[in-house]
Amino acid sequence: MGHRLLEPTSRPSAAADRVASSRIRELLDLVDRPDVLSLAGGLPDVSLLDEDRVRAAFAAALGAAGPSGSTALQYGPTAGIEPLRSHLADRLDVDVSATVVTTGSQQALDLLARSLCAPGDVAVLEAPAYLGAVQAFRASDARLIGVPGDADGMDVEALDSLVDDGVRPAVVYVVPDHHNPTGTVMSAERRRRLLAVAARVGAVVVEDAAYRDLRWGPPTAPLIGRGERVVHVGSSSKVLAPGLRIGWLAGPADVVAGVTRLKQSVDLHTATANQLVVAHLLSDGAQPAHLERLRRTYRERSVALVAALRRRLGDRVEVRVPDGGMFVWLQALDGTDTDALLDRAVDRGVAFVPGSAFTLDDAPSTTARLSFATLGPPQLAQAVGRLAAAWSP
Ligand SMILES: Cc1ncc(COP(=O)(O)O)c(C=O)c1O
Repeated sequence: MGHRLLEPTSRPSAAADRVASSRIRELLDLVDRPDVLSLAGGLPDVSLLDEDRVRAAFAAALGAAGPSGSTALQYGPTAGIEPLRSHLADRLDVDVSATVVTTGSQQALDLLARSLCAPGDVAVLEAPAYLGAVQAFRASDARLIGVPGDADGMDVEALDSLVDDGVRPAVVYVVPDHHNPTGTVMSAERRRRLLAVAARVGAVVVEDAAYRDLRWGPPTAPLIGRGERVVHVGSSSKVLAPGLRIGWLAGPADVVAGVTRLKQSVDLHTATANQLVVAHLLSDGAQPAHLERLRRTYRERSVALVAALRRRLGDRVEVRVPDGGMFVWLQALDGTDTDALLDRAVDRGVAFVPGSAFTLDDAPSTTARLSFATLGPPQLAQAVGRLAAAWSP
């Protein structure tokens, strides 16, 4: 499979005209329908959070007093509040000045796309790609190139060939741990090669680590700290609560300066109260046990989903077995068009995201992303039963 190069439109366009609405966000409406079991969302199971712990974090946040009155209620610095940035700096082994707290990691992607890419600059993404990153890079008027991936992550040799052909990416965006949508973990060798190829052309590598802490497989080495032009993007959404909208990035000083300037114009700073809550939750001593619980539960659910798919769909599908994250990636081996399948599946009371939603050009696809995060094993089995019934019209 070759890479896809999407040319920019010939006349200037406004950012909103370049960005299609996320089909996943549209599909999320189905989650609320009581008759539909949804495997579509990338929603974490927030019921696994201890409510008393969350209450204590909000109480502590409200109680924090600063020189200008209640810290939670006051304006704060654009790059984020000190306790949270310090925690992130320790964790990522970088200087506090290298960190920026963002309004969800989605904002980090948007700020990075706009500060790193001038119109027409090339941004390379692993295809299929996280839709939110596609939207962010499209809005920045970058030229998107999708490099295919396999069970070891992005095909870095294909990227190397592009560079040989004269392509000079400004950014290479990867989700090396439990990729959205494929669940893939990038191999150690590919990580090493990626850093080498990017360094050859001076490209910034954006490492999106949204799912990194939801790992039950063997440990992996992050990219941050292993190359001068690496930006790490992280999120509290999948390990605490997405409603708090706390994400972050860490990277080289010039990138941090550019992102911070842009952030000033976007929202001045991320909600102070929510930063305090997340800073408290990440350091109250209970987070390691919470992460263990999440991993144990998600692992159990992933096993149940894969087993049900194998039982009900057998050799009609190939599934990529995840060792972390929230998703199972499914390939229909019998040529089933998953867009058409989705319509039949919703009629039968189950939703998923067809692979076409993650392509750069909406091409029809025989793949699908199934999330196991929010349903228990019996419901997952029931959902797959409905999917199997919808399979053959
Ligand atoms: C790979 C990836 N990156 C970033 C995000 C954005 O998450 P948030 O803005 O909630 O941190 C998501 C959300 O689904 C994601 O899957």
